[in-house]
Amino acid sequence: MEDGVGKVLLTGVTGFVGGRLLPHLQGRAIQTRCLVRSPGRVAGRLQGPHVELAAGDLLDRGSLARALEGQDAAVYLVHSMGGRSVVHYMDYIERDMQAAENFMWAAERTGLRRIIYLGGLGEMGDNLAPHLASRQKVGEILQSGTVKTTVLRAANIIGAGGAPFEMLRYLVERLPVMLCPRWIDTPGEPIAVQNVVEYIAGCLTIPETAGGNFDIGGPDIITYRQLMLIYARVRGLKRLVFSVPVLTPYLSSFWINLMTPVPAGVVMPLVEGLKNKVVCRDHRIRELVPLRLITMQEAICEALAESSGGPGKLPSRQACFLH
Ligand SMILES: NC(=O)c1ccc[n+]([C@@H]2O[C@H](COP(=O)([O-])OP(=O)(O)OC[C@H]3O[C@@H](n4cnc5c(N)ncnc54)[C@H](OP(=O)(O)O)[C@@H]3O)[C@@H](O)[C@H]2O)c1
Repeated sequence: MEDGVGKVLLTGVTGFVGGRLLPHLQGRAIQTRCLVRSPGRVAGRLQGPHVELAAGDLLDRGSLARALEGQDAAVYLVHSMGGRSVVHYMDYIERDMQAAENFMWAAERTGLRRIIYLGGLGEMGDNLAPHLASRQKVGEILQSGTVKTTVLRAANIIGAGGAPFEMLRYLVERLPVMLCPRWIDTPGEPIAVQNVVEYIAGCLTIPETAGGNFDIGGPDIITYRQLMLIYARVRGLKRLVFSVPVLTPYLSSFWINLMTPVPAGVVMPLVEGLKNKVVCRDHRIRELVPLRLITMQEAICEALAESSGGPGKLPSRQACFLH
């Protein structure tokens, strides 16, 4: 076991970030208990000398308290967005608040020492989109308890299987000419999923990060338009991107929903969030957890090489530099 980390409860391990964090923790021999809603579905995949499964649901306090028993730290990688409904897509907000309240309750009762929570960037006073506001509220709920909670805030995280990358990929692959809302020119600070995993693992091992709020971003501030053009360049595609004032986020979500496999319940909140500037307030984390920041070009190459299929799949990450 790595010094000082102790036993870690990992939530969201069936998801995009959690699924990558587990092998990283295993590589460092960190004892990890994975909280999953349906253990039968994942038992074959989540194995290893330092891995244990616990059945649990953040909406069920009893199962949470059992899963947290005997753990030292927890990583909170859960959100409730999803589903195919374009009408009830906002239901996630209430569930996310309840899940955070339950987690704080169970963490305090079981004597947990630390929580690391991954939330979203964006400022509250900035007419913040509901999904970004909900991410921040979750962080506030967790920090209102007695367990030291580190909040990491990220903008779009780029990696294979993640909603932002899959949206980007399908749009650029399928549309030679794109008419987009004006918000595609809002600045953001996207980050590669590999760097996010390193930051979370770094926070677990570095006591100075306990209880702190840190913004995490990639090496560059770029707009969504620039991200689309980087993707096109990596793939050697010619793409024209225009912004038009009349396109509301709601309308563009319908369009994205048709063009990409990402479910409406995720597309709608993410597109609403595009109007918000999502850049880091500071880069204190870079001194506490020094690492090499991956450029968006590299992150896209890596994601296309890692994908199990789909448009633009590359045989290896070197292949994209051929264009
Ligand atoms: N992806 C991004 O670009 C991005 C950007 C900024 C911040 N973040 C934050 O990073 C975190 C992880 O995001 P992600 O993209 O990895 O999410 P994801 O792939 O959608 O995974 C969500 C995870 O939450 C689990 N979950 C949902 N409700 C649950 C419940 N009631 N009880 C237990 N588990 C539950 C899901 O489990 P099931 O398999 O059982 O459904 C799944 O493992 C979130 O807090 C998100 O806001 C993500």
